[in-house]
Amino acid sequence: MKQQRAKFGSKLGVVLASAGSAVGLGNVWRFPYEAGNNGGAAFIIIYLISVVLIGMPIIISEFMIGRRSKVNTAGAYKKLAPNTSWKWVGRLGVLTGFLILCYYVVVAGWTLEYVYQSSINAFHGQDKDFFVNQFSIFSQSIFRPILWLVVFMLLTHFVIVKGVEKGIERSSKIMMPLLFILIIVLVGFSVSLPGAQAGIDFLIIPDWGKVTPKVVLSAVGQAFFSLSIGMGCLCTYASYFSKETKLGRTAVSVALIDTFIAILAGFLIFPAAFSVGIEPGAGPSLVFVTLPNVFEHAFGGVPILAYIFSLLFYLLLAMAALTSTISIHEVITAYIHEEFHLERKKAARVVTATCIFLGTFCSLSLGPFRNFTLFDLNLFSLFDFFTAKILLPVGGVFISIFAGWYLDKKGIFKEEISTGGAIHPLLYKLLIIILRYVAPIAIFLVFLNQFGLF
Ligand code: TRP
Repeated sequence: MKQQRAKFGSKLGVVLASAGSAVGLGNVWRFPYEAGNNGGAAFIIIYLISVVLIGMPIIISEFMIGRRSKVNTAGAYKKLAPNTSWKWVGRLGVLTGFLILCYYVVVAGWTLEYVYQSSINAFHGQDKDFFVNQFSIFSQSIFRPILWLVVFMLLTHFVIVKGVEKGIERSSKIMMPLLFILIIVLVGFSVSLPGAQAGIDFLIIPDWGKVTPKVVLSAVGQAFFSLSIGMGCLCTYASYFSKETKLGRTAVSVALIDTFIAILAGFLIFPAAFSVGIEPGAGPSLVFVTLPNVFEHAFGGVPILAYIFSLLFYLLLAMAALTSTISIHEVITAYIHEEFHLERKKAARVVTATCIFLGTFCSLSLGPFRNFTLFDLNLFSLFDFFTAKILLPVGGVFISIFAGWYLDKKGIFKEEISTGGAIHPLLYKLLIIILRYVAPIAIFLVFLNQFGLF
């Protein structure tokens, strides 16, 4: 008997698992450092426009492709568009996911180091210079970051082999709301630090003079990365959705939750960074050197609170990263399992092992191997640049063309968007226009612009 394919158990589970994929280091770690590197408020505004104009329609498209086909993302195109080259879009997505996972898990590993440091109360009574030094020594060392990335990959592996409903859904349900509450509490402390106003200004007063082609591409790339779109991740999750799931509404919820948490993370990081004198353009270290200051300053008088809050925060951050690594791992595992008929467990093992292998090099590229560069980027930054700023947007162009032209012409778009109630005809038209023309052309222009072609 053919085994029935797994499904998410409830409506809330669907939203939380998708939001669990979207919310992660992209919001708390990558968003602030990209915003800091790209001048703040103006970047954020372009990012928000990208989320609404390009992000939401693509989330809906991925949901459709996944739910309609009920297979992994490469299989999905084969099923919906048999005997065409569309399957390469799915395959490209799997490759993109693989590359993302390899460097993402390095940063995810860092969160475990910070869980550990918090648990032994190592940050107590320390100042900014200590945190800055400590991070750079740690991230450039050989052994510990690799140890943590291996641990993180194994945690991911464990949830993946437990399966969709028991593993993914249940963990998201508990952790997401908790993280949300904790960040709100911490934002309250951060904005009341002395000198925090400069950080708030940085977030809300745009300086349009700083907007270059690079800033625009970074904002678009960040929207893709943060929403988990452009590589078939939400598509794979949607293959576990049931017929009743309302795709439009779910997409809006996911985008709202994700964006809200990113903005909150901005209000957590920048006021604190400005308050203690950390450069907003500090790069990937930004969050890791800023946050311990928040805990020390906010609860300096009550050490036990500083201890509890920092431990809890890093734990939740690690868990948010976990729900994201799970979602990427699932894309690749489902692909190998279904397309190559390898047992799910074995497929998962292949993914875990190869990611640990490449992840190790990404980690070493920040320390001993930092002189090996390509286009002036070490391996870690190269993976980040190539996936977020090139492969995801390229995937996005194809996904939106596939949904707007191919699925619409076959009537699949209309059917899938209307489950659980008809959609307003005007809204429908708008979506199709965005997917057919606006999103692909906008992304194309951003590329041309970035590479100096116009
Ligand atoms: N969106 C996640 C984050 O913000 C990371 C992530 C999960 C992702 N799945 C993805 C990024 C798919 C790009 C594509 O941390």
